[in-house]
Amino acid sequence: MANIRQNVVVFTGSGVSAESGISTFRDKNGLWEKYDAMKLASVDGFRDDPEAVLDFYNERRWQLFDAKPNHAHYALADLEKHHDVTIITQNVDDLHERAGSSKVIHLHGELTKVTSSLNREDDSCIKYYPLNLPIYIGHKADDGSQLRPYIVWFGEYLRYMDEARLAVENADIFIVIGTSLVVYPAAGLVGYAQPEVPKFLVDPSDMEGHLPIGFKHIKAKATEGVDILMNEISIL
Ligand code: APR
Repeated sequence: MANIRQNVVVFTGSGVSAESGISTFRDKNGLWEKYDAMKLASVDGFRDDPEAVLDFYNERRWQLFDAKPNHAHYALADLEKHHDVTIITQNVDDLHERAGSSKVIHLHGELTKVTSSLNREDDSCIKYYPLNLPIYIGHKADDGSQLRPYIVWFGEYLRYMDEARLAVENADIFIVIGTSLVVYPAAGLVGYAQPEVPKFLVDPSDMEGHLPIGFKHIKAKATEGVDILMNEISIL
């Protein structure tokens, strides 16, 4: 492995957690193949049927309660022994942190937290809430509003997008794992990596029409692809 500590930035999506039993969104049997995203992951959906939205997230919180990090999460955490690693994830699970990654930027929120339905990003209302306890109607945030999961719903702004963009712009090595790159503004991050830096994308699909220019495609599942990736990085 190159013995100079490099700035390694890893951008992940639900595919990195698929082998931990967490559903992806747009694959066969993906969440949005089964559920209506606009009904369950939007402010309007929450206004129209808050119970259905809370039931949906309580189920995902329970699924996460049972899940464990997989080899891909651990390999990325282990990379910190050699490099300065920033994980930018679209995932709302905490599997990167549970595997030991010390710098994780969550673009789309966190299932382990709850917040106010009046002001989602009011830090005084954002709280950890045990994954095995349901959020229910009438459950109040500190500002007296109905409690909601700390998730970025479609159409809501991404608080950490600028921090993420800066990290990608300063990357010495840029890696993408397990995302279909169809949801913006997050998917736009791939365009901020410097042209000369080595760029890798791990995904078992063909990424038809979505493989960004200049990326080496490691066509494999995350748990296999990370081993190929670590080899590639070690010879850089
Ligand atoms: N290892 C690696 N990649 C995998 C694996 C695996 N085991 N299994 C599936 N994939 C890939 C798929 O081929 C696909 O490219 O992961 C990607 C999953 O894509 P999506 O289901 O679209 O999920 P993601 O890109 O994370 O979605 C982005 O959309 O719904 C919103 O907010 C939600 O954060 C989410 C965002």
